[in-house]
Amino acid sequence: MILVTGGAGFIGSNFVLDWFDQSGAQEPVINLDALTYAGNLENLIALSNEPLHQFVQGDIGDRALVSRLLTEHRPRAIVHFAAESHVDRSIHGPSAFINTNVQGTFHLLECAREYWQQLPQEKASAFRFLHVSTDEVYGSLGPNDPAFTESTPYQPNSPYSASKAASDHLARAWYHTYGLPVLTTNCSNNYGPFQLPEKLIPLMIINALAGRALPIYGDGRNVRDWLYVGDHCAAIRCVLARGRVGEVYNIGGWNEMPNIEIVSALCTLLDQRSPLTAQRAGGSHAQLITYVKDRPGHDRRYAINAEKIANELGWKPIETFATGIEKTVDWYLNHQDWVAHVQSGAYRQWINLQYGHAASSDGQGKQSCSQQ
Ligand code: NAD
Ligand code: DAU
Repeated sequence: MILVTGGAGFIGSNFVLDWFDQSGAQEPVINLDALTYAGNLENLIALSNEPLHQFVQGDIGDRALVSRLLTEHRPRAIVHFAAESHVDRSIHGPSAFINTNVQGTFHLLECAREYWQQLPQEKASAFRFLHVSTDEVYGSLGPNDPAFTESTPYQPNSPYSASKAASDHLARAWYHTYGLPVLTTNCSNNYGPFQLPEKLIPLMIINALAGRALPIYGDGRNVRDWLYVGDHCAAIRCVLARGRVGEVYNIGGWNEMPNIEIVSALCTLLDQRSPLTAQRAGGSHAQLITYVKDRPGHDRRYAINAEKIANELGWKPIETFATGIEKTVDWYLNHQDWVAHVQSGAYRQWINLQYGHAASSDGQGKQSCSQQ
């Protein structure tokens, strides 16, 4: 039995779905998720008849609930995904990021410590707390800087990355001070099924198909290191199974790309998959590309050196960007119901706040985006 937090979000739900695929449904999962705007039970529909999956709606900061779950189910591990995860939202409203990412992780660590301390010796040494974190804690790279390693100093620049950095420090301290068997992973940008269209790739896919503007921040030359979500999930399973306690593992796709190249690649793919909307956009979805005001404090470049996890644990990504992005685009094209459901009133409010226009399919978005 493992306890997963945030298992109704993008990566967490992929992890839980893959867990049952990969383990042949042998080991039960308790899935604790507060179902914030980012949590979606529709992601888990495939597990409706899976008796080994138990979903619990609740907050990681609710100590009574978390302690009860630990005492009742006696998991051998906690895999901690739950977080506020969107940089732009952290700029508009940092408070939820401090509450969940910092205080929530603190409460979860305390509950884990209390539970772990009363486990019999053998179970205590087998127990793991896997803290899922991000490459953004390392800050921003210059064009010729070497990629982030596990010993790169922390220099978080956004409220989101600062809150994740704080949670990483807490996890580290709980290992060093109390001996809690913590593992930390710092991963690069994920993409794939079930990602909310607030993040770059799904936002662009959904806007392109609806004939809306494709808003590129700044000059579009900011670089991210993209990893298919299934590869991230495999890396986490690997660290959970074989990672050395107290260690940090960077996870990345060896795939640095500037945003404008990502969006151009998406447009080319969508032109092939959806010629009708390409035609409506003026021949290619690329006609919808619009440069907009930059994100404040926008980190220029992230790149992960993932040699440690490759050398120590034998993990490498399976998908290339070409294969991963095809799977992703096809998933969005084949899941129009999911796409329609996530574009609820709350989603439209966010789009209006961030981009200055509502998420309608009237094709007017391009005009109302502020041009640089
Ligand atoms: P997400 O926003 O899609 O999902 C977060 C989930 O956590 C949601 O289901 C939400 O309901 C839940 N949640 C939020 N606050 C909670 C609380 N207080 N208690 C319980 N549940 C709560 O995020 P994601 O993109 O799936 O990211 C998951 C984790 O991976 C995060 O810790 C994030 O920092 C990290 N990460 C993400 C990426 C990426 O590219 N998305 C890359 C590296 C690391
Ligand atoms: O690096 C890992 C991180 O990747 C995770 O920790 C975060 O949870 C995840 O959200 C992601 O952060 P980014 O800020 O890199 O992702 P996002 O998809 O928001 O943006 C990717 C890049 O695209 C970034 O340079 C900003 C740019 N962008 C984004 C949006 C939403 C645009 O140009 N236009 C947009 O509309």
